[in-house]
Amino acid sequence: MSKILVTGGLGYIGSHTVVELIQAGYEPLVIDNLSESDIEVKDRIEQIVGKEILFEQVEMCNIEELQALFKKYNIAGVIHFAAFLLVNESVADPLKYYHNNLVSTTNLLRVMLEHRVYNIVFSSSCTVYGNPDELPVTENASIQPAVSPYGNTKKIGEDILKDTAAATDLKVISLRYFNPIGAHESALIGEFQDGEPHHLVPYITETAFGIRKELKVFGDDYNTPDGSCVRDYIHVVDVAKAHISAVQRMLDGKTEDSFEVFNLGMGVGVSVLEMIEAFKEATGIEIPYSIAPRREGDVEAVYADTTKANTVLGWKTGKSLKDAMGDAWRWEKAVRGKD
Ligand code: WQD
Repeated sequence: MSKILVTGGLGYIGSHTVVELIQAGYEPLVIDNLSESDIEVKDRIEQIVGKEILFEQVEMCNIEELQALFKKYNIAGVIHFAAFLLVNESVADPLKYYHNNLVSTTNLLRVMLEHRVYNIVFSSSCTVYGNPDELPVTENASIQPAVSPYGNTKKIGEDILKDTAAATDLKVISLRYFNPIGAHESALIGEFQDGEPHHLVPYITETAFGIRKELKVFGDDYNTPDGSCVRDYIHVVDVAKAHISAVQRMLDGKTEDSFEVFNLGMGVGVSVLEMIEAFKEATGIEIPYSIAPRREGDVEAVYADTTKANTVLGWKTGKSLKDAMGDAWRWEKAVRGKD
């Protein structure tokens, strides 16, 4: 049976997508170099789906390892998640990001083409839109200069894919995630936490758990309804399901261009202060917070126009912000061994 190769499949979005792939009847082949994830995630995915998954530890920056993998397995398509994704870390160590995120992608494409594997779904980001000129953001919005090396690797990654697709038989679907949040309802998989959180919602849940005294709201003097930054927070399971729609579209030969882009969001802008309120509505827990200075590089407001994903990809979100906050809270408690 041909397989769907999932690179970085033990990561946050990757692990949730592996679950959805299996539940949709696909056979994923999961690879990960375990640099930012733990092999335990494989066991937890297996617990959720009730069966073994195919896993190989692969360093994608080593092309020989990828060649061996493609020789060993019959691969029908690829979902490419593997990448370093921390904005601040990418500013401090750009070469680590350019090398890892770009060499892994060019190696992957070389080997795919050698083996005549022409379908790839790419994990991209709303970060390519920077501070958008108008809201909501459509896929035709201008791509702004990246505000971080991480964001630049997503932009360059899309360029590599687009140019390669124009020159070969490669078909690409690039999924631009807005802000994925939450966790699987089982609380067995979620956002990987290794010390300092990297995003708003883990900061909220760690504050709720008492690990942090209060949440620092990075600025309340933006030109937004309540002064705090606005984002489009989307449940990670909805993001995962969009990958199934994308894989199905490719395998059914329905792609209209060699390079297609879809925004993945709720299509609603929510501010930081509204997120604090949403957490309280979902859990009954009041989050103590104080207003801190703005964070360098923050976009004032960004949220998606999801019309194209809804009408062309045939995907729409099914979970609410309340679901996401409740799932995030259950995950936090599970990680802390509370539940
Ligand atoms: C969200 C909002 C902060 C923490 C990141 C990546 C981006 C994409 C989505 C991958 C901002 C505010 C946060 C805190 C706060 N990921 N905040 N206090 O920066 O929108 O985007 O995730 O593709 O590439 O950069 O997400 O969760 O860091 O911040 O006030 O303690 O919450 O200022 O307005 P961001 P985030």
